[in-house]
Amino acid sequence: MARIGPALVRGAAACLLALPLLAPQARAAGPSAAPVPSGAPGSLQVLHWWTSDSERQAINVVVNQLARQDIQWRDISIPGGAGMGAGKVLKSMVLAGRAPEVTQLNGVIFGEWADLGLLLELDNVAVQGNWEKQMFPAVWSLLNNRGHVVAAPLGIHRVNTLFYNVAIFKRYGLTPPRTWEEFDKIVQLLRGTGIVPLAQSAEAWQIATLFENLALAESGPAYYRRLFVDMSPSAYLDARMLHILKRLRSLAGAMAQPVRERPWTEVARSMVNGEAAMFIMGDWAKGEFNAWGLTVDQQFGCAPVPGTGDYHLYSTDTLAMFADNYSHQAMQETLAQITMSAAVQSDYNKIKGSIPVLRAQDPHMDRCARDSWRAFSKGASYQAPSLVHRMATDETTKDAIVAEVQRFFIDRQITEEQTQKRLAAIARTLSRNRND
Ligand code: BGC
Repeated sequence: MARIGPALVRGAAACLLALPLLAPQARAAGPSAAPVPSGAPGSLQVLHWWTSDSERQAINVVVNQLARQDIQWRDISIPGGAGMGAGKVLKSMVLAGRAPEVTQLNGVIFGEWADLGLLLELDNVAVQGNWEKQMFPAVWSLLNNRGHVVAAPLGIHRVNTLFYNVAIFKRYGLTPPRTWEEFDKIVQLLRGTGIVPLAQSAEAWQIATLFENLALAESGPAYYRRLFVDMSPSAYLDARMLHILKRLRSLAGAMAQPVRERPWTEVARSMVNGEAAMFIMGDWAKGEFNAWGLTVDQQFGCAPVPGTGDYHLYSTDTLAMFADNYSHQAMQETLAQITMSAAVQSDYNKIKGSIPVLRAQDPHMDRCARDSWRAFSKGASYQAPSLVHRMATDETTKDAIVAEVQRFFIDRQITEEQTQKRLAAIARTLSRNRND
C-alpha cells in the first residue's frame, strides 16, 4: 500500500505540531474496548459527505445502532461528491485544533493523519472482532498503518460501473458494451434520436472518474498501479497514456454540449429519466436509483465499464476516529464495533449500493453487487485502487492529477502530448521513486 513520502509527512507534521490544541503522538493505545454504560449520555461528532437520499438512508443504519447504545451521532455533513469539499473542511478543522471525533476519511490519507499521531488505534476492537480473518485482505491492509488499525470499514464501492437506461436499450435493441468499440457503435446508433449517449458532469472528480476507468481499460491493473500508486513518470510517457487521453477527449462527442458542472445525483437523474442512455459512476448511483424507487434490470441496468469486466476499480468507505484526549474512546470503539457487525454490513451496503467488506458472501446481494463481489474476490491482481477516491495516492498528488485532467478535458487548445508531459512532471515531482 502506498504511503506518502516522508518529506510530506515532516512538512505537515511541522505545521501541525506548531498548534497548541493538538496532542501529537497521542495515539498510544488507551484502555481496551469497553462497552458504553447503558443510559450514559454521549455523542460523537461525525464529519462526512453522505448527503444524497440513499447515502443518508444508508448511514442511518449506523446512526440507529449507535442510538441503541445511547450514543448520539452529531452530523457535520459537507455536500460535494467524492468529498472534494469535506476533505478541505476536515483539514481546516484539524489545523484549527477542532478535529471531529469521527470522520469519513477514506484511503491512503489515513497514513498521513496516523503518522502524526492523530488517529485512535482500534487494535483492541479489531482483535476482539477478528477483523483480519473476516475482511478482504485489501481492506485490511488499507486500514492498517505501521501495524495498527486506524479506521473502521463500512463497505466497498465499484467505481467501474456503467449504468444504462433499460427502456432505451430495449427500444433500440442495445446490449451493454463490453469494449469501447461496442460503446462507439451505440453512440452512432443513438445519433439523431435526441438521446444523449453518455450522461456526464464537468466536475473535476467526475471527469477524472472517466479517466481512471479508461486507464484501467487500457492495460489492466498493473499499468494502472504504475500510474496512480507508483506515480511512475515513464508510465505517463508511455504511448498508452496518449491513447487514454485521446479516448477521454473523444468521449465528449457522446455527451450533451456544453458539459456542465453538475452534482452526480443530477447527472444520474438525467439517465433514468431518459435524457441519456448511459452513465459511468461508482455504484453508489445504484443505491440512489433504489432510493428513488427504481429497480435494477427493470428501469436501470448495470455492467462493468467497457474493457474492465474482469477488474474491480474500488473505493472503500471507512470511519476514522481522532484520538483527542481519549475522552470519547469508549464511544468511538463502540462505533467501530457496530460498523463490522454482519447485520450492519449487510443492511448498510444494500442501501448504499456497495458490498460488505466481509469475505463471506452476503446472500442478500442483488445482481450488480454479486458481480462486484465476484470481481473483488479474485484478489489483488484484479483490483485497482481508485485515484479519485483516495485509494491510490496522497491528497496533494490526487488533486494535482485530477485538476490537470479536468483542464485537458475542458480546454481543447491543450494537446494530449502537453497533458501527458504535465502528468509525467507531476509524477516526477511527487513520486516516491525519483529514479524512474
Ligand atoms: C464515497 C461514497 C460516496 C461517493 C459520492 C465516494 O468517495 O466513497 O460513499 O457515496 O463518494 O459522494
